[in-house]
Amino acid sequence: MRKLVTLLAAAGMMVAAGVASAEPITIKFSHVVAENTPKGKMALKFKELAESRLPGKVTVEVYPNSQLFGDGKVLEAMLLGDVQIAAPSLSKFNKYTKKLQVFDLPFLFKDMEAVEKFQQGPDGQKLLASMEKKGLLGLGYLHNGLKQLSASRELRNPEDADGLKFRIQTSDVLAAQFEAVGAVPLKKPFSEVFLLLQTKAIDGQENTWSNIYSKKFFEVQEHITASNHGLIDYLVVTSAEFWNGLPADVRPVLDQAMKEAIAHGNMIAEEKANSDRKRIEDSGVSTILTLSDAERAKWVAVMKPVWDKFAEEIGQDLIDAAVASNN
Ligand code: LMR
Repeated sequence: MRKLVTLLAAAGMMVAAGVASAEPITIKFSHVVAENTPKGKMALKFKELAESRLPGKVTVEVYPNSQLFGDGKVLEAMLLGDVQIAAPSLSKFNKYTKKLQVFDLPFLFKDMEAVEKFQQGPDGQKLLASMEKKGLLGLGYLHNGLKQLSASRELRNPEDADGLKFRIQTSDVLAAQFEAVGAVPLKKPFSEVFLLLQTKAIDGQENTWSNIYSKKFFEVQEHITASNHGLIDYLVVTSAEFWNGLPADVRPVLDQAMKEAIAHGNMIAEEKANSDRKRIEDSGVSTILTLSDAERAKWVAVMKPVWDKFAEEIGQDLIDAAVASNN
């Protein structure tokens, strides 16, 4: 009994002194993709690094596969304090900034090297803070990769997409891109795509090799065109209020852990784009069409005029800077 009283007294003193009894900070990291993807692996790496470097101070809970929040809700939830980190695709910030639409312009980046150059350059870095006034802070960019087109019919020429319904992310640029080829774009959450394809409520979609593979879209799409016509990359984002309010001994450690986790995810992204394409090819379930230069040029000619529609909203300077990263 005396021992218990002593222990309670000691605990009381610690509480009074504000030490040791502090609860760990819980960081909920919500995302929509599978664990075996660049984003899924990056989130787990962040958890591992953050918890091992800040034992007892930080707990990271990772929720994949839209388990906690889907596309539409995660940013609102973040501003309400219900989730602390997410990494939505750059196409899902329309409500908060028009600038990030630059990443959706069709046929803008020739490869992932150009994407990296633009993101790490002054213009890309400035964009990280472009939503701070709205309460969102970009912690860094994470790659997934270039998008491919898939459909229930072969898409060799732009006319082949005419009249088909395509699921798109919540981006007006992507809507305009599909309208340019006479298709019908439908904004739908990622979590619904498989079922929509399977039930033929939609005819096609656009995504990266890793998403097409990990969510089994290839099993319900007969044709994939290796078009590399656009990008799915992510903005790792947090609430500015939460991040700026972190204790001084915690924030730099989390910053560093995030940098390393992103580097880890980026390495996987490159590897997965190749290996998941190969897995789809080997499955024999859907056919992969590689466009000739002349065929690709036709898609570019029809889709690229979309840039002009959004130049004012995005800013021509920003578009020029992105184009320059191809050199
Ligand atoms: C999509 O909605 O197709 C993608 O943004 C999903 C993701 O997070 O990769």
